[in-house]
Amino acid sequence: MQMAYNLKNHSQIENTSEGCPDLSTIEQKLGHGYVTSTPEAGTMLGLLYEVGKKIGSITKLNKLVKQITQMTQSTLNATASSVLLFDEKEQELYFEVAEGESEKALRKIKLNAKSGIAGWVAQNKKPIIINDVMKDQRFDPSVDEITGFTTRSIICAPLLVQRKLIGVIEVLNKSDGSDFNGRDLETLTSVASTAAMAIENAQLHQTVLNAYKSTIKVLAAAIDAKDHYTRGHSQRVMEYTLMGAMPLSLPRDEMDVLEYAGILHDIGKIGIADSILSKDGQLTDREWEIMRQHPLIGSDMLKDIPFLEKARVLILHHHERYDGSGYPNGISGEDIPLGARLIAIADAFDTMTTDRAYRAALSVDRAIKELVRYSGTQFCPIALEAFISGYNNQQKSLDTGNGNYDLSEKD
Ligand SMILES: [Fe+2]
Repeated sequence: MQMAYNLKNHSQIENTSEGCPDLSTIEQKLGHGYVTSTPEAGTMLGLLYEVGKKIGSITKLNKLVKQITQMTQSTLNATASSVLLFDEKEQELYFEVAEGESEKALRKIKLNAKSGIAGWVAQNKKPIIINDVMKDQRFDPSVDEITGFTTRSIICAPLLVQRKLIGVIEVLNKSDGSDFNGRDLETLTSVASTAAMAIENAQLHQTVLNAYKSTIKVLAAAIDAKDHYTRGHSQRVMEYTLMGAMPLSLPRDEMDVLEYAGILHDIGKIGIADSILSKDGQLTDREWEIMRQHPLIGSDMLKDIPFLEKARVLILHHHERYDGSGYPNGISGEDIPLGARLIAIADAFDTMTTDRAYRAALSVDRAIKELVRYSGTQFCPIALEAFISGYNNQQKSLDTGNGNYDLSEKD
């Protein structure tokens, strides 16, 4: 028999034979420091506690949604779950992250926010249980047709922040084939209110981050515009830095720092006179002295931007050398931050493989041999090994037939 509930018909839920979790049944032993509850309410509270604890500090939207769906799916003993976010402009719902086998296919789907079960929940801002979707005319089988998943039952709740629709969360098919019940819906609805706030925060954080990234790109373009020989250099150094970091399997936030530091490594050149920066002939000793100020100038420029604090340190040290003969501080070996050692290699590689005022570009072969020649003196051997391995991996994925370099590359 089809069972469809929503919270408007709350009494209907409470009339189910299973009963409804009632938080008043939780016996709070205040003053004794512990709480007892029915097993069902305990499950719900446990999930709420976990969701609150785990998602509070997550600012990356996809990671956050993944945590929410994973925890909800396992607590409700379901086979799949997903969060659909609401695109107000397009009036569409789209899958941010889906847990379960159909994840990749779901990512490409956009749903009309006015149709289907998720659309109904979005429109009416009410949760719903449907235990036999084939008997419900709102059910749209097109998603199942794309993913190959067979939806039997569904519970779905809106994600609302002060009545504003953020999206919907849905959980599909109990693993043991049983029906979803009122308790499951209560649990999902409670999770949805916490999740909606966290998702909105993450979206705001993402918006601010995107604004920062746009500003960084403008800054980087300003550096490159000062010298047409270095056009695109900042972007390429950033890309080579990330390529070199890939084999090191660094955490995502460290990769972000490398991205910002890579693209801004020469930001201090904005403070160097054009007559020095674009000089065709050899620089005098005094001019070199001024030129070597650029890591310090760059670091100083960024010192009041907390968002770029970690990147700032890498920018400060991107001209240090592994043997201590670099600048500005002359630090050596592992005292040089790993990111700065990676940027130094990416910087040298791009400088060698592009045309300069005083010489034509070197071939990749030649440039890698030069890097290897100075491994252990100018460049960190570990960072160089990662860079070469990253280059080889990239060439393999592009299927160029190149990319078989190793650290023994010598003339
Ligand atoms: Fe530099």
